[in-house]
Amino acid sequence: MSQQPIGVVGAGTMGQGIAQVLVTSGFDIKLYDVADEQLERARAAIDKGLGKLVTKEKLSDADREAALARLDTTTALDALRDCEVIIEAAPEQPALKEKLFRDLSRLSHEAILASNTSSLSLTRLAAVCERPERVVGMHFFNPVPVLKLVEVIRAEQTSDATVSRIEKLAADLGKTAVPVGDSPGFAVNRLLVPMINEAAFLVQEGAATPEAVDEAMKLGAAHPMGPLALGDLIGLDVCLAIMEVLQDGFGDPKYRPCPLLKRMVDAGYLGRKSGRGFHVYS
Ligand code: CAA
Repeated sequence: MSQQPIGVVGAGTMGQGIAQVLVTSGFDIKLYDVADEQLERARAAIDKGLGKLVTKEKLSDADREAALARLDTTTALDALRDCEVIIEAAPEQPALKEKLFRDLSRLSHEAILASNTSSLSLTRLAAVCERPERVVGMHFFNPVPVLKLVEVIRAEQTSDATVSRIEKLAADLGKTAVPVGDSPGFAVNRLLVPMINEAAFLVQEGAATPEAVDEAMKLGAAHPMGPLALGDLIGLDVCLAIMEVLQDGFGDPKYRPCPLLKRMVDAGYLGRKSGRGFHVYS
């Protein structure tokens, strides 16, 4: 379907989901990570995700095999040189992302560099690149194969052609692109993560148990899952990092991270990925 491959940088939860959606939609992809073991875990997770679709009869066995055959993995960033679009889903560390963007922009002058950052400034990322007009935010939501939204974030430098290309790619993936400005947390995380933070305050103050908070929001606000279960899904370290970006970006005390959230992250209780967060996972 696509002539040039799409690159995905980072084979963690978001990179895996993005890769799965790309190969299911017919794109050849190159998935990059620094660690071979992470790439192996990602291939297994994508295979499992495709397996769910086969079980639900949304995908045939042959299509599953064809999708897996479109997935190429690499630990060499150079291998992404021929990609038309590169979607970065590396950990939310500004210095790491800036280095990656600098390196990627030197690798190819033609590629569009899209970041899946959950809250960092696209304008600052674009500023370190040789072709800043080709840098854009393409923010997916977890679980990527299920949730339909992609926030498309325009940096100060982003060109109209870059935005159009990413909107088209989102549509090809069956997603709905919503344009948002380059403001801390963009739209969804600015609303969602303070809610999770406030839920942590409820628990810290002894006003409600995590079970009660989650049950209340599921039944009382028709959320598919409660805010603390959602925090566990996103990763409590990621939630804390987003609160810190909001607090730094707006300088408003209403975005102060909940001390209980901080303590849980310090303790390594990060949510589903560590087996324990506000809830325990076996
Ligand atoms: N691949 C393919 N399909 C998948 C899948 C995968 N990896 N994971 C789940 N699915 C499918 C299931 O097969 C199921 O399909 P059917 O509807 O056909 O049965 C469907 O998705 C729902 O999955 P489950 O039945 O396992 O679970 P559920 O109904 O309890 O829903 C949930 C789980 C989708 C997570 C739902 O609770 C939900 O939407 N929660 C809210 C998630 C949310 O808000 N995410 C945003 C987080 S913020 C973010 O990501 C941005 C950031 O920067 C931090």
